[in-house]
Amino acid sequence: MYCTRKITENISYIGGSDRRLSLFENMYPVPNGVSYNAYFLDDEKIAVLDTVDKSIMEQYLENIDFLLNGRTPDYIIVNHMEPDHCAALGTLCAKYPSLQIVCTAKAAALIGQFYNAELAARCLQVKEGDTLSLGRHTLAFYTAPMVHWPEVMVTYDQTEHILFSADAFGTFGALGGSIFADETGFDFAEARRYYANIVGKYGPQVLALLKKAAGLAIDCICPLHGPIWRRDFDTFVEKYQKWASYTPEEKAVLIAYGSIYGGTQNAAEILAAKLADKGVTNLAVYDVSCIHPSYLVSEAFRCSHLVFASSTYNNGIFTNMETLLLDLKAHALKNRTVATMENGSWAPQSGKLMRELLSSMPGITLLEETVSLRSTVKPDNLTEIDALASTLAADLQ
Ligand code: FEO
Repeated sequence: MYCTRKITENISYIGGSDRRLSLFENMYPVPNGVSYNAYFLDDEKIAVLDTVDKSIMEQYLENIDFLLNGRTPDYIIVNHMEPDHCAALGTLCAKYPSLQIVCTAKAAALIGQFYNAELAARCLQVKEGDTLSLGRHTLAFYTAPMVHWPEVMVTYDQTEHILFSADAFGTFGALGGSIFADETGFDFAEARRYYANIVGKYGPQVLALLKKAAGLAIDCICPLHGPIWRRDFDTFVEKYQKWASYTPEEKAVLIAYGSIYGGTQNAAEILAAKLADKGVTNLAVYDVSCIHPSYLVSEAFRCSHLVFASSTYNNGIFTNMETLLLDLKAHALKNRTVATMENGSWAPQSGKLMRELLSSMPGITLLEETVSLRSTVKPDNLTEIDALASTLAADLQ
């Protein structure tokens, strides 16, 4: 049975949510599910904006059937060709043979790859600033390469001032009836985790899109995941500016440790306690083996100061810590002050190796103060930890 909601008189939500999925992109835990948004614009010509993931395809097709009420859609606008948004494209186009696909040239090439040349031949290719009149509504298209794939565009409804923003301004989490951000509490932590992990590598491209969007009068933002914003989205835009420019969101210390028998954890906890003693209140301490790296990548985008404490393992960095650091490097994190702490019972190596890896990341300031443990924290280590805490606390001022 159909399940739609009106956004405005002529525009409806036709997406849905998957609460069974454990790993988005087979990578990121989504304990609260995820929504795949799509939209229906009813005018003299009827446009459907994006399709959905295969998990909710049946719901999506029923929603379209209901809104069509016996009519035929004219256009399917493909803002993004990633399969979580285009899995229903082939079925939709087979069901409505006259349906024309509207997309960028790069999206048309991907349609050929994911589907076939016949489907790609049904594309009306649009370029930056092109418009499409549906009757009362005129849609304008703006390219948004690498937000988050190269073919991405966003669609702006010039009539109702609505930006269909593709992956931008998306978030993890299913939508349950309340499809508007103002109808439900918005979880910025999950929005940050979505941003940092999915789009975080492409900060300059996101900034370019924000610049384009700043030139448009926008009353409503309709992303492909998560709630629709019809008011008060300045806070979200401000956060996007920070995330995309790799500006720390908060003066805060993230301490991530990789510990095997507890010595490294002990040092990390002592550092946190000393920082708290020195008046630092914004502290986040995590065991890298007990939390998915996507949460730590997100925290690293939030915090200004990062401390990595790692055991030596196989003469290298403790595996889960190495995964985290490589992930941060892959996401191009920069503009952070970073410290390292190492442990090794017979040949401590992790500090040197972490510092080499961190030194290869542009825009990372490595503190000289380090802590080197042999199995457990000794009195000399307390002096090292205290010195590190003092430097961090002073730097946070
Ligand atoms: Fe939600 Fe980049 O796809």
